[in-house]
Amino acid sequence: MKKTPISLLPVLVLTILWSCAGNRSNSMNTTATATNTDPIDKKVDSLLALMTLEEKVGQMNQYNGFFDATGPTPQEGNSKTKYEHIQKGWVGSMLNVRGVDEVRAVQKIAVEQSRLGIPLIFGSDIIHGYKTLAPIPLAESASWDLEAIEKSARNAAIEASATGLNWTFAPNVDISRDARWGRVMEGAGEDPYYGSLVAAARVRGFQGDDLSAHNTILACAKHFAGYGFSEAGRDYNTVDINRSTLHNVVLPPFKAAVDANVKTLMNSFNELDGIPATANSYLQRELLKEKWGFDGFVVSDWGSIGEIAIWGAAENLREAAKKAAIAGSDMDMESYAYVEHLVALVKDGEVPESVIDEAAGRILKAKFELGLFDDPYKYCDETREITLIGSEQQNQDALDIAKKSIVLLKNQNNLLPLKKSGQDVLVIGDLADDKNSPLGSWRIGSDNETAVSILEGMKQYDANISYQQGVRLTDANAEFTLEVQVNETDPSGIDAAVQAAKGKDVVVMVLGEHGFQSGEGRSRTDLDLPGLQQELLEAVYAVNKNIVLVLNNGRPLAISWADENIPAIVEAWHLGTQAGNAVAAVLYGDHNPGGKLTLSFPRNIGQVPIYYNYKMTGRPTNLPGAPDDLVFWSHYSDVENTPLYPFGYGLSYTTFDYDQLSLSNQEIGMNDKIEIQVRLTNTGEVAGTEVAQLYIRDKVASITRPVRELKGFKKVSLAPGESTIITFELDQSTLGYYNNDGEYMVEPGTFEIFVGGDSYADLTSSFRLK
Ligand code: BGC
Repeated sequence: MKKTPISLLPVLVLTILWSCAGNRSNSMNTTATATNTDPIDKKVDSLLALMTLEEKVGQMNQYNGFFDATGPTPQEGNSKTKYEHIQKGWVGSMLNVRGVDEVRAVQKIAVEQSRLGIPLIFGSDIIHGYKTLAPIPLAESASWDLEAIEKSARNAAIEASATGLNWTFAPNVDISRDARWGRVMEGAGEDPYYGSLVAAARVRGFQGDDLSAHNTILACAKHFAGYGFSEAGRDYNTVDINRSTLHNVVLPPFKAAVDANVKTLMNSFNELDGIPATANSYLQRELLKEKWGFDGFVVSDWGSIGEIAIWGAAENLREAAKKAAIAGSDMDMESYAYVEHLVALVKDGEVPESVIDEAAGRILKAKFELGLFDDPYKYCDETREITLIGSEQQNQDALDIAKKSIVLLKNQNNLLPLKKSGQDVLVIGDLADDKNSPLGSWRIGSDNETAVSILEGMKQYDANISYQQGVRLTDANAEFTLEVQVNETDPSGIDAAVQAAKGKDVVVMVLGEHGFQSGEGRSRTDLDLPGLQQELLEAVYAVNKNIVLVLNNGRPLAISWADENIPAIVEAWHLGTQAGNAVAAVLYGDHNPGGKLTLSFPRNIGQVPIYYNYKMTGRPTNLPGAPDDLVFWSHYSDVENTPLYPFGYGLSYTTFDYDQLSLSNQEIGMNDKIEIQVRLTNTGEVAGTEVAQLYIRDKVASITRPVRELKGFKKVSLAPGESTIITFELDQSTLGYYNNDGEYMVEPGTFEIFVGGDSYADLTSSFRLK
């Protein structure tokens, strides 16, 4: 790595200081110092002792990128203020400054012009890649491939760090059960067990084994907590969940991230128990920092400190700053609340200085761990920026996980895979010829129009396929405006598509949502195919039934009509840079799909929120002996209770059979393990990959438990006719749950188990825990 020599006085002062850190720790005027023995903590204490109150508060202040840092110094307005604040040491971190030149230029202001030369952390939303985009996180989660998910995060960190960044605001570990909420595209679906494993994998991927390496970055588990339960799926809305849901569904992935040593958390826009999360000390102090022992720092979500006042939980920005700081929000993202008010709040005795020391100390610690004090420019290497970003390897890996993310939802009469020759294929759909939409939401460093389109991918297999747009979907470039929601209403292309479809062997219709139709601020009250796409689908179906529907979307859609009528359906999400190559590989059978849904697909929007791990209710079915048409049980009178496609569901070009379920014991003690074995056989004619899943049901508990809970899975590849024995294990760590005080409990009783290829698995047995 190219090192930039640090010859500047402020840094020299600090460097000398570190070497005698041990001697200085006793003179610290902070509560945290007396017992610090960790070398980094000692350095932090020594540095804190040198800092003015203003400088310590400065560490807690984060600004969005503000000007062309390599250009002239800003002379007026907000940019000038931010510039001057960096010079004064009143800024701890920047977001959305990226590119080696820009990062270096901004870092230089902090390092060379501020009194102590404390380097900045540079953060950004590297959600599913920087320039080379992997599938959106929801899609990746459908791979059930934790290694590939970890690698994807690793690759994102490699590209991000090569552009000067050292902090990503990811992973999003919000569990959500509501497809109306646009941000389901950013998470790992509805299940806390699986979501926890994915959270930990992503943290490992971003942070690697050595945070001080130049290609690892800080991860940020977000949004703490409950954001995925925004009421009615409307983004930023209030959240009203009970303690059992909080502890058993919402919090486990955060805890898993903390256990995986995540260095930062972001709090959330929502309130919890009537207290905005940013001002919530139960979450941030009691639980996160005290009970879980989290030693990193918490950043507010964008402006969320200011929003405490808008919620009506603080009189004004000053009171919001006080509440957030006391509640344990360590860094203020763009509210200006801390920088404007914290110093005065301390001086007026309203916020103890120890709160500032603690927060600033946590932030400084992360800077030491990143190695920024050794070399503030360690992420600024043009050679790495040129060679690593968008490399062949990055693209290969993105293609690999894109293929693994695809879920086959239906394949009647083996319409798929398509034949590589001899079939007359028509492709229809605006999204098929789109090089932008597959990139999905959150694309910090990628250029528009850089994905391989599905049409391009397919043409590599069959140059003769023809194409019809059908209907336009949206304005493809509307990243930050509502424009993208306005679907085209011009039906004039439908007729041409219908005419072209007549007599074709197969019609591949690529329909769904544009990449910006899901994501932050993109809630929907309608989960049907947007615009005129349903009309187009039905019109084409009227003349040609051999349709393969390829869905592009960032959330479950309600496609009951398609499920009833269309013979083949492929869930292809927004798969990133390599989307078209991945989809084509699946359509033409070079990759046998093995993905499984991690979020239930409803039959219609009225079923939402719908999820597999629901509670029994007192009336789950008609009462025994009651007439069949009795209405007094928990159901709808117009649609079944079940989802269209359940959690864990996904087909393959082959078939799998489960049998020979056996348990090592019928009864186990509290400290025992139980082994569950099942035989899995590939009963079809091609090799394939299956995700074998284990669910439990705790029959009777002090607090009601879900009808099923995922507690294990194995992803297995089998040749045609091949069988294997799969072994799962259960013990205390998987058989318990959290009570309403957040204490983990394991209770004796009967546990049912279910093994199979989705959450409706019907191979079952049971055992007792004594
Ligand atoms: C989002 C966060 C994101 C932040 C910074 C907010 O609006 O909720 O997830 O990290 O902006 O871009």
